[in-house]
Amino acid sequence: MGDERGAARVSSRCQGIPPFYVMEVLEGAQELERAGDDVIHLEVGEPDFPTPEPVVDAGTRALRDGLTHYTHSLGILPLREAIAERTLRDSGVAVDPGQIVVTSGTSSAMLITFAALCDPGDQVILTDPHYACYPNFLKTLSVEPVYVPVDPEDGYAIDPGRVRAAMTPRTKALLINSPANPMGAVLSDDNLAALADLDLTIVSDEIYRGIEYGGQSSSMMRFREDTVLLDGFSKRYCMTGWRLGYVVAPRRLMKPLQALQQNLFISAAEFVQHAGLAALRDDVQDHVSKMVVELGTRRRAMIDGARDLGLGVAREPEGAFYLFADASHLGPHSLAVTRRILAEAKVAVAPGLDFGERGEGFLRLAYTQKTERIQEALDRIRRLLESW
Ligand SMILES: Cc1ncc(COP(=O)(O)O)c(C=O)c1O
Repeated sequence: MGDERGAARVSSRCQGIPPFYVMEVLEGAQELERAGDDVIHLEVGEPDFPTPEPVVDAGTRALRDGLTHYTHSLGILPLREAIAERTLRDSGVAVDPGQIVVTSGTSSAMLITFAALCDPGDQVILTDPHYACYPNFLKTLSVEPVYVPVDPEDGYAIDPGRVRAAMTPRTKALLINSPANPMGAVLSDDNLAALADLDLTIVSDEIYRGIEYGGQSSSMMRFREDTVLLDGFSKRYCMTGWRLGYVVAPRRLMKPLQALQQNLFISAAEFVQHAGLAALRDDVQDHVSKMVVELGTRRRAMIDGARDLGLGVAREPEGAFYLFADASHLGPHSLAVTRRILAEAKVAVAPGLDFGERGEGFLRLAYTQKTERIQEALDRIRRLLESW
């Protein structure tokens, strides 16, 4: 009886939100660690580097100076000015600080963006595979995700024809992500330009920009000034736990975005915004460059090692810090494969299922650990595969 009443209180919207399976892997890994096992973590989406020291210094100084209060709902002006400057340098587009909302992570930027753009029953087009949480932000707002398939053989390019075919009168936006999680794919300028021609609002999540291993990725802003740009400090500046992000939006969206930010979150934390301001200083970009060089070495070890194991790498990742490898020969259900790899090899990896139907059969291997640990993880998996 009690159960039935409880079930009735859960919204149908939330019943449609699946678990984030990688968290199940992480929790399973932590249980093994509590029992004394040495588990190698290739499942979580954060590098093992510390936050750059100048950023920590600025954050600590701000705390000591008592900068621990609410700020302007859009964020402190010097930070918005610095973000506008970065946007101009990156894309050639001059945005006004009044077109920027500083948020507690890119995640909350995403929430207010889709809340401002969409009504219940509307649709947003995104790729399959995709970042695991995208559809769940949409479902939380009763917005329907509509998927266009992308393939490793085409470098995960987004075919504008497929987007056009997926458009209906209810379509509000196309959501893109380059460099992409989990594929590590970088969209070419030609692809971005072709997508820019679509008669559709484009929301571009560029949280992995700056983490590239060949050519640099381009901002969608370069091709469409009215892009709704989502970005944050988590990945580039190793600030996952600080929770800082932002949205740059056309003026027509600023009133609802600001009202949502005021009501739902009030403002991002003041001292964290001061740390973010330091992260955008020129001297910190050296830290980012060094990190990318080190990640590049780890990437090579991961790709070569995964291929040696017989995993399918049709397309090498060009950005972010993930290898999305085809492991379908090990079993049709990626969650079962990851559970076995964790239990028997003590290596935690993310199941492809988390990233959409077309991710099933794949594993996401984050090259966020030191090269020796990556090699050790691959050795452990190799020993397991001998008796698979
Ligand atoms: C593509 C993508 N967007 C957004 C986020 C969330 O970032 P934040 O820590 O800024 O909320 C992540 C985190 O993994 C991500 O991979």
